[in-house]
Amino acid sequence: MSSEQSGPTGPDLRQGIAIDTLADGAMLAGHVGGDAVLLARRGAEFFAIGAACTHYNGPLAEGLLVGDTVRCPWHHACFSLRTGEALHAPALTPVACWTTEQRDGKVYVRQKVERPPRIRVKPVTAPRKIVIVGGGAAGFAAAEMLRRQRYDGSIVMLSDDASPPVDRPNLSKDYLAGTAPEEWVPLRDDAFYADQHIDLRLRTTVAAIDSDKREVKLADGSSIAYERLLLATGAEPVRLSLPGLDLPHVHTLRTFADSRAIIAQAANARTAVVMGASFIGLEVAASLRARGVEVHVVAPDKRPMERVLGAALGDFVRGLHEEHGVIFHLEDTASAIEASRVTLKSGGTIAADLVVAGVGVRPRLQLAQDAGLKIDRGVAVDEFLQTSAPDIYAAGDIARWPDPHSGAAIRVEHWVVAERQGQVAALNMLGARQPFDAVPFFWSQHYDVPINYVGHAEAWDDISVDGDIGQRDCVLRYRRNGRVLAVASIYRDVESLREEAAMELAHA
Ligand SMILES: Cc1cc2nc3c(=O)[nH]c(=O)nc-3n(C[C@H](O)[C@H](O)[C@H](O)COP(=O)(O)OP(=O)(O)OC[C@H]3O[C@@H](n4cnc5c(N)ncnc54)[C@H](O)[C@@H]3O)c2cc1C
Ligand code: FES
Repeated sequence: MSSEQSGPTGPDLRQGIAIDTLADGAMLAGHVGGDAVLLARRGAEFFAIGAACTHYNGPLAEGLLVGDTVRCPWHHACFSLRTGEALHAPALTPVACWTTEQRDGKVYVRQKVERPPRIRVKPVTAPRKIVIVGGGAAGFAAAEMLRRQRYDGSIVMLSDDASPPVDRPNLSKDYLAGTAPEEWVPLRDDAFYADQHIDLRLRTTVAAIDSDKREVKLADGSSIAYERLLLATGAEPVRLSLPGLDLPHVHTLRTFADSRAIIAQAANARTAVVMGASFIGLEVAASLRARGVEVHVVAPDKRPMERVLGAALGDFVRGLHEEHGVIFHLEDTASAIEASRVTLKSGGTIAADLVVAGVGVRPRLQLAQDAGLKIDRGVAVDEFLQTSAPDIYAAGDIARWPDPHSGAAIRVEHWVVAERQGQVAALNMLGARQPFDAVPFFWSQHYDVPINYVGHAEAWDDISVDGDIGQRDCVLRYRRNGRVLAVASIYRDVESLREEAAMELAHA
């Protein structure tokens, strides 16, 4: 996977393509001048839009057409073929659009055109003041969607982080590995917030919510009134109670500043201990290996990621990391950390000049709890992401919502879900009644191996494997009572997209 721009390839679409060569539902990557363009056929209609996904430049022609949308093969962003709009995160920027013309058995791509995004909500009683608590995935996507829908009231976004909204998944992957520059990390530059009249206040802690008065109280004692409030406070790393955890070479990873601090420490580190063998811990392990640091992973589990991905994929992930030199200490935990070593419960010690604790996260529920909102192992929301207080919505890592696909109320910690919930909450704060029914999706990247996962399975009766996990070419289906609840895949992007589309249809 690469985020680098490559020059456009394929035919010059201005010269025309024989209509017969493009079957219904087919896509073709070509170019118009210097622009990479995707030509897609839906019945008798032809569409031409930018060929590179605006998330990380995924090749849209290798994705899937669903209705009048195209889905990106890498992280399942969805673009309108009619307008180029980025309909579903993680892409938030539209692709360009061109007109097409059919003549003499050929289809020609003609003019580049601007097509405005579809306005999905006509507010009856539009609020004038929207406050968003949280400058992460859900908060940012909500603010962006509010302005995309031409909401012109005030948006105040409050974040206790020092950085503006960042591409958090990158903090453990390319940025930490040293293969993505600093500029890729912010979701938008500072000018965006000024241009869009989004009053982003960083280093600003919300201390309380007064839902009767409809205002949030800041830690500095001031208050801000709201008509609609979005709570998107995310999660924070679990902190173990362990001697030595406060030493300066011990880190957790949630923020841009955390990632920078690990990079600074890694510059002089020879050996690192990563505590935890789940997604963030192992992505950190891979990134530190890319920086030439010797990495030991200490975790109580029998296998990495087994609880989420099952034994076979867990063994594969372990083998993959071992191939890259990671040393595992499984079914073990750290009992103490000192300046240059970590002592294990089993009795041994590991030399370590850098320690990263990636032992899970805890949703930040305090504000919601204190405000008296209904809590159910997360902030309980209905299908419209509305909390038990009518003007307060919740989205992202804190929200437990009724998932129509699994039939259960679930809470997940996935980037794409948080962004999509932020988008739906934005529409609903403007008066739409759009249920949140997206199929959960996440991805994780280890060296050159991406793992994509659609659906949600907390328990299963069996896992069937199609393909070969060792060859990095597989689809795993997690079944319960004969029903496929979730699908994990490696380099089977179109199948992963098909499974997602089928799950969407099943509950449309
Ligand atoms: C290193 C890393 C890598 C990840 N990689 C992946 C991945 O590959 N794939 C995937 O699906 N997911 C990944 N995730 C998970 C994903 O980033 C989260 O699910 C997502 O960020 C959740 O979005 P959110 O908006 O709910 O919370 P966040 O993005 O955490 O944002 C919460 C915001 O709320 C603010 N806040 C909290 N409380 C207050 C308060 N009282 N006052 C003011 N501000 C407050 C915080 O400062 C922050 O700005 C990763 C997470 C991390 C940390
Ligand atoms: S590159 Fe398209 S969704 Fe990430």
